Parts: sequence; structure tokens; C-alpha cells
Amino acid sequence: MVQLTLPKNSKIVTGKTWPKPEGATNVRKFQIYRYNPDEEKNPSVDTYFVDMDKCGPMVLDALIKIKNEIDPTLTFRRSCREGICGSCAMNIDGINTLACIYGLDEIKADVKIYPLPHMSVIKDLIPDLTHFYAQHASIMPWLETKTNRPAKEWRQSIEDRKKLDGLYECVMCASCSTSCPSYWWNGDKYLGPAALLHAYRWLVDSRDEATGERLDALDDPFKLYRCHTIMNCAKTCPKGLNPAKAIASIKSMMLERAH
Ligand code: SF4
Ligand code: FES
Repeated sequence: MVQLTLPKNSKIVTGKTWPKPEGATNVRKFQIYRYNPDEEKNPSVDTYFVDMDKCGPMVLDALIKIKNEIDPTLTFRRSCREGICGSCAMNIDGINTLACIYGLDEIKADVKIYPLPHMSVIKDLIPDLTHFYAQHASIMPWLETKTNRPAKEWRQSIEDRKKLDGLYECVMCASCSTSCPSYWWNGDKYLGPAALLHAYRWLVDSRDEATGERLDALDDPFKLYRCHTIMNCAKTCPKGLNPAKAIASIKSMMLERAH
């Protein structure tokens, strides 16, 4: 069941059913969440039919086809089409994932598409990520150094570089944070899996010289410790990352410095 933050005093209603493509024999049904704050209407779920013989294999291919050929008002974010920019994250078939790398053949029944759960919706499939990005900025996602800048570059051993694997690949899609019940209920104060994964990425970077300040900033009952290891984050991450493990590593660093 998709948990949506609905506009006040509203409910999701059945929306428009668009006509089937003429002459098509291989048709698939798509049910897509629609909401336009400029219209004083309840959010709705519209039904579209797509000719799969003339559609690419990914969910994003179908969304682009619907927008180009059926309903130009359908609104969603996308850019790279190869799982790199993180902008096409949405809830597909009950899973938070990236539409451009999620195959339509992975969905057995009708295709149901909603925005990422528990976020305010700007329009249709576009969540408001302002707070999510501010939380990311709050963990200082950059290299902090105190010693003099080296003449050429900040060097790192191969072993130390390997510690960043499983962290640097994050594309900030917000699939993990918006799948996390702790983030749903305390997202105003709990940083959530994505921001904490990035916090650990800089904590574990051998070149960074602000470990103490970084840990001080996270040592808070809400920012870090609202993670209850529910593991939805690792289950849903479309890049195969494990934010819960990164959070556990931050908690270990906190314990180590306390002793
Ligand atoms: S950890 Fe995975 S799910 Fe979370 S923001 Fe990064 S890429 Fe997206
Ligand atoms: S369009 Fe860039 S990740 Fe999907």
C-alpha cells in the first residue's frame, strides 16, 4: 500500500480513463497518480493503455510514450535514462525505484505508478525534495581539511579508497528515505538513510579532517538514533546500496569515541 502525503482534506479518486490505442493487439494498462495543485480537485488515478509493440522495455519508456502521445500534462522528473541522475525515482508496483532502470517485464499485473511515499507532491509524480536536499547539505557533503593544501592532490591509498565503495555510488534518488517508517514519522528531525549514508561516506574518507565535528553534529537523539534498523532502505535501493549498514557504522564510531 502506497503511503502518500495527501493535500489537506482530500482523498484519491478514480480519474480519467484514456482510450485504448487503435489497432493495437499488445496493450498494457497503466494506473498513474495525478495531482495538480493549481486545480481545486482531489488527486486521482488516471488509466492509460500503451501499445507495448511500440514501447521500450522500461517503465520510463512507457511514461515518456504516454506524455508524448496520449497526455502531455502528465508530469514527472527524468534526465539521464540510465540510473545515474536519480531524478526518476517513484513508487512503481509498490516499490520505490528508478523508472528508467525498472523493466516493465518485472511487473506481472497492471502497472501502478505513484510518487515517492510520504512527501508533499508538487505535481503528479514529482515530490517536493527541498527538505531532503537541505538534510543532505547539513551533513557537509564535501571534503573538510585543516592541513595545508598539497601541491598536486589529496592522496589516498588503494585500501582507503576501497572504503568508499558502496557509498559513493548513491545518486540521491530518495527511494530509501521515503521507504523508511522512521523517516515518514520523524523526517523533520531524523536525517534519514540517504543523508546518513552520505555522512558516513565523508566520515570514512581517509583524507577528511573533520571527523570529530561530523560526529558531534550527528550525536542527537533524532538525527541519527531514529534509525531502528527496519532495513526498508537496503531492500529498496535501486543501486544496491545498504544505508542501514552505513548508519550502524556511524553508531559504532560514536561508541568507539565514547570509550
Ligand atoms: S542510498 Fe540508494 S535509495 Fe538511497 S538515495 Fe542513494 S541511491 Fe537512492
Ligand atoms: S532518468 Fe536518471 S536515474 Fe532515471
